[in-house]
Amino acid sequence: MARKILITGGAGFIGSHVVRLFVNKYPDYQIYNLDALTYAGNLENLKDIDQAPNYHFIKADIVDAEVLNRLFEEHQFTDVIHLAAESHVDRSITDPLAFVRTNILGTVNLLNACRATWKGHFTDRLFYHISTDEVYGTLGETGLFEETTSYDPNSPYSASKAGSDHFVRAYGETYGLRYIVTNCSNNYGPNQFPEKLIPLFINNVRHNKPLPVYGDGKYTRDWLFVVDHALAIDLVFHKGKQGETYNIGGFNEWQNIDLIKVLIKQMDEKLGREPGTSEKLITYVTDRPGHDRRYAIDAGKINRELGWKPSVTFEEGLSQTIDWYLANEQWMNSVTSGDYQKYYQAMYASR
Ligand code: NAD
Ligand code: DAU
Repeated sequence: MARKILITGGAGFIGSHVVRLFVNKYPDYQIYNLDALTYAGNLENLKDIDQAPNYHFIKADIVDAEVLNRLFEEHQFTDVIHLAAESHVDRSITDPLAFVRTNILGTVNLLNACRATWKGHFTDRLFYHISTDEVYGTLGETGLFEETTSYDPNSPYSASKAGSDHFVRAYGETYGLRYIVTNCSNNYGPNQFPEKLIPLFINNVRHNKPLPVYGDGKYTRDWLFVVDHALAIDLVFHKGKQGETYNIGGFNEWQNIDLIKVLIKQMDEKLGREPGTSEKLITYVTDRPGHDRRYAIDAGKINRELGWKPSVTFEEGLSQTIDWYLANEQWMNSVTSGDYQKYYQAMYASR
């Protein structure tokens, strides 16, 4: 039977790269992008493929169980790749319930829709859940997150993602649903909403606005180019083993302040400014509450078992990302109009 894959959150940052890859690479699959088009979802992200015969868009909210059940009955999806989520840690600190609704309730609604419509198919259909390294909590100066690391989430965002991961595994154990979970590190690349560090700082450098560095700036993240994450998702979807977890990361740790200096160096060069000019924009601000000190992924399992590794270096990926933002000012203007200004004021005026 031809595959009819439901990709949730496909109008968002990572989801749009996954949808594009699957639509282009697998013309025999029917790809259904289900997205509520929140502030983070933007159909502009997919305008290059939205006329493809194997692409279908459904505007729907995963919090609405009735609508989901109807859609599953109507379309008979054969697989789910679940990315839809509230994804920004800072927003989870101001509105945790929005994260409980979408990330936990929304995931359980999807699992229930699979349970109801996949009878007799639990072994040949797949629920692939996209999660984050943040569920593991924070690391000290050494060590890496492994697939066996205990969950220890610290923010409402990571607690909601941990909850959703637990439900996916519970449905596997209890009802026999075929599932895989991947936990990935920080992504960066084209189409990321400018509330996250890299696109926010690209936009602010461009417009000579302050660069709000939280706390001492020595927080560490492991950065992965979004296209490499999409390629990993493709590989896991096709070759991953039932019930397994795979960590995905860039083998690429940076303290925030060092990353910011590389970003400034590249941007000053591309904007024709004197080297280091934009460093004066760095502004240390009040820290994020409960800020995790360090994340670092051991991506050895996916590398050994499925042969995946990142394809671009950080400097290359960052350069491509900056070029994309500089060439797509219209995209930036459209996503930063309206509510974005209110968000920015509320988030940074008090810091
Ligand atoms: P994003 O915020 O850019 O996109 C989320 C998408 O989900 C948007 O298109 C939004 O409209 C949609 N959405 C939100 N609530 C919805 C709802 N109730 N119903 C239907 N659609 C809804 O997020 P992202 O950065 O692309 O992250 C995608 C997934 O990957 C998330 O599950 C996130 O937890 C995970 N993840 C992200 C990163 C990262 O660095 N960005 C790293 C690891 C894992
Ligand atoms: O690790 C994976 C996670 O990465 C994903 O699950 C999340 O969806 C994604 O948002 C991201 O979470 P982070 O909180 O790590 O990303 P963010 O871009 O918000 O912040 C990166 C680091 O930069 C973090 O240490 C906080 C800091 N920061 C962030 C912003 C927005 C600043 O210093 N200033 C800022 O203005």
